[in-house]
Amino acid sequence: MTEMRQNTKKLFIKTYGCQMNVYDSDRMADALAPHGYEPTADIAMADLVLLNTCHIREKASEKVFSELGRLKELQSERRAGGADLMIGVAGCVAQAEGEEIARRAPVVDMVFGPQAYHKLPDMLAKAEAQRHMHPSLKRAVIDTDFPEEDKFDHLPAAKKEVTIRRGLTAFLTVQEGCDKFCSFCVVPYTRGAEVSRPVRQVLAEARGLVEGGVKEITLLGQNVNAYHGVDEAGRTVGLGELAYLLAGIEGLERLRYTTSHPRDMDDALIEAHRDLDILMPYLHLPVQSGSDRILKAMNRRHTGAEYLKVIERIKAARPDMALSGDFIVGFPGETDQDFEDTLKIIADVGYASAYSFKYSTRPGTPGANLGDQVAEEVKSERLWRLQDLVNAQTTAFHASCVGKTLPVLIERPGRMAGQVGGRSPYLQAVHLDGSTDLIGAIHQVEIIGTSTNSLVGRLKVAVAA
Ligand code: 5AD
Ligand code: SF4
Repeated sequence: MTEMRQNTKKLFIKTYGCQMNVYDSDRMADALAPHGYEPTADIAMADLVLLNTCHIREKASEKVFSELGRLKELQSERRAGGADLMIGVAGCVAQAEGEEIARRAPVVDMVFGPQAYHKLPDMLAKAEAQRHMHPSLKRAVIDTDFPEEDKFDHLPAAKKEVTIRRGLTAFLTVQEGCDKFCSFCVVPYTRGAEVSRPVRQVLAEARGLVEGGVKEITLLGQNVNAYHGVDEAGRTVGLGELAYLLAGIEGLERLRYTTSHPRDMDDALIEAHRDLDILMPYLHLPVQSGSDRILKAMNRRHTGAEYLKVIERIKAARPDMALSGDFIVGFPGETDQDFEDTLKIIADVGYASAYSFKYSTRPGTPGANLGDQVAEEVKSERLWRLQDLVNAQTTAFHASCVGKTLPVLIERPGRMAGQVGGRSPYLQAVHLDGSTDLIGAIHQVEIIGTSTNSLVGRLKVAVAA
């Protein structure tokens, strides 16, 4: 790719939704860097604003249109001052609604889905050419194709200094899309069929991150434990085997992955949890509901008992495994008894944390055609009850850590002078007194207390990184 560094332009990316979007936003910034775009944290300074959108629930989608209203005003101000502002909509709303966005919001210059990110510089050139057209002829550049080529073969890696600036922990997408078709979920439509990146590509990106100072990598995928990348010998490698290969990278200290489907927790992955210290004992394993009737209607293809059995197998391999989950309340037809079954499974598992949502009808999903919708007040009441239970479990989990010594990856200065902050193996924020020299390595920290959402620690023994 040719460097075109005539004059630096400012790029502002606003990211909505999941960690995959966070990763994608960085990759978009990397793709635009050789074309003279530098990130800015101040939207008022931007020459190009990209909204990286989320379609998972109705509320998430609506945010895009209100943000576009604000951007229209910003664009008018910029133009009044003789400057300009380009606007692009990326992500899953762009993928799902394409033309509709351009129609509803003519202020938008580009609309493109997650599989088109490698084409961003080309799209930008086309959109810039459109700027000089008469407004009546101007058309947004739209790309919502699922192309044949692998975008990752064309997306440039981050420069080393950029990786260093991004910090000690990094996301790495290894798998995209989903073939599970849970009846409430838009992902199989917005992100498409399940695709895994080849092993060589994943290892090369991981090595690049570690060379840039990254100590902890979180492997991402909509259904990450369905990973089935091909290796150099043409063999299919699962997530468990991939974890062993990544564990061989010198300097990489922690490995996580998210999000997983219970049906894809295979023996090889569970064995990796038994064998590899690098694999953190904290697993996001959504069950969505505890009622077998609702799980069937959701097309989850497992029962509550099967989910508990998977957890039993994982805990047999790694007894200190902590769990987090996702729950949906108010799926069509959910009765009081179904909801009680959800509370029961939460009580049985004992989560370290959990995310919970009111069911949101998504156009185009099978769930959208179901009758027997649950009233909004009932959904709200169920959500409060569920969140009360989960909050109590999180508090209990934090409290159970007091008195233990945990390895903490110290990442940043603390809020108070003389303090530093980091993360425990269970992703809890930990604060402790200590010098900023501790930043960048894992240190043994005795947990001496808890505060609302974090742990308070005391440095024990420094372990060389
Ligand atoms: N309504 C509510 N929550 C949903 N999720 C996915 N689709 C919907 C929907 N239509 C939740 C699930 C999933 C998480 C990412 O978002 O719990 O695991
Ligand atoms: Fe959506 Fe996850 Fe179900 Fe796939 S497994 S359809 S991403 S909820």
